Amino acid sequence: MHTNNTSIADTGIPLFGQKEAISRVDKAVRRANSGLMSRQGKPLMSFLFLGPSGVGKTESAKALAEVLYGDRNRVARFNANECAGEGGQFKAFGPPRGYAGSDKGGLLTQQVKAFEGRCVILVDEIEKGTQEIFDGLMAALDEGYMEDASFGERIPVTGATIVMTSNILAGTDMAGWPDEKVRMAIAGAPVQNHKTGLSSNPFRLEFLGRIQEVIQFASLEDTDIALIIAHKYRNETAVKIAVNYHLLIIDLSPKALGALCAQAGGAKFGVRQVDNVITTAIIDRLIDYPNLPTDTRCSYIWDFDEDTGFTIENLHQRGCRFLAEQRDESLNVTEEKMTVLREHLTKVALDDVRARADKPATAEGNNVLMHRMIVN
Ligand SMILES: Nc1ncnc2c1ncn2[C@@H]1O[C@H](COP(=O)(O)OP(=O)(O)OP(=O)(O)O)[C@@H](O)[C@H]1O
Ligand SMILES: [Mg+2]
Repeated sequence: MHTNNTSIADTGIPLFGQKEAISRVDKAVRRANSGLMSRQGKPLMSFLFLGPSGVGKTESAKALAEVLYGDRNRVARFNANECAGEGGQFKAFGPPRGYAGSDKGGLLTQQVKAFEGRCVILVDEIEKGTQEIFDGLMAALDEGYMEDASFGERIPVTGATIVMTSNILAGTDMAGWPDEKVRMAIAGAPVQNHKTGLSSNPFRLEFLGRIQEVIQFASLEDTDIALIIAHKYRNETAVKIAVNYHLLIIDLSPKALGALCAQAGGAKFGVRQVDNVITTAIIDRLIDYPNLPTDTRCSYIWDFDEDTGFTIENLHQRGCRFLAEQRDESLNVTEEKMTVLREHLTKVALDDVRARADKPATAEGNNVLMHRMIVN
């Protein structure tokens, strides 16, 4: 029995705007860990993750792998879209003996075998799978094994967690719907075959009935995108700037954050624009910045105004009052906040430096930086 009850939110990257989905996944994990469920030769857990693209479904599957199996890479992945055509199931479960490729077995089955069944089995775009794919997964859900047709072997999945993902009904607000109603809606939703153009629905009710948890991931809001940008900047970009430029450009002013969020298109384009915007607005600006500050003892912050674009402001010169005014907060709160932020950044940067300390080429530079950061 597993006794580790860590939340999937405590692993990997923090997921914003998915409290409800995360708490339901966590609950299923605690339930499975409790040892109180009768398993009857079925997988440890099974999920259907519903939601639009780029809201954290795959990320959550990896987090599950970390919580359950100690390694976020213990994920056997397969995209049902890859086997949408006739005979497509050969790819997943292996072509029968005599067919081309039968010496290698199935892509999905052999990954699961390599993990000895102790892994998350992640099937993306499940709605695009053929009936044979659904039948193969049904055996896994119901009987606790997957059959590889090439080698005629049954691979046990009783220690595995099955996660299927789908964008089906992504535009439908199903908040607060009872579980039964959600499952019925899935079974009734049209799925268009992009080859034939015809609509049908591959989800049989008996298949849906065997999935333990149908979890809805919410669409992200503008504020979630802003939080993601701020988090990525502080934890990735600011750390890299500290390590490589020896400069503590520790935060984004609210105006700068607002401008980045606007450039990312807010929630409209989703999270995938976030990296692009940080690259073009911040990194490209920094590498060609006129009069880049050189005082390694000071903290800086990105600010933004319409005329000058993104500028680097010296917090020591302008003081915390600058931030307080912008944030419309009392000075106390801001100073506290800045101290926390600065300590956090210093810690993350130091960890990064330590992780790289083995590399002789940068060791000297790293020592200088570490010294500066400790002195500061
Ligand atoms: N809620 C979120 N909070 C923070 N970052 C997120 C969130 N959702 C997604 N991301 C970021 O976007 C990346 C892509 O997310 P992910 O692969 O989990 O999307 P998905 O829901 O599986 O989408 P798709 O349906 O296209 O497969 C993640 O690696 C992460 O960096
Ligand atoms: Mg995904």
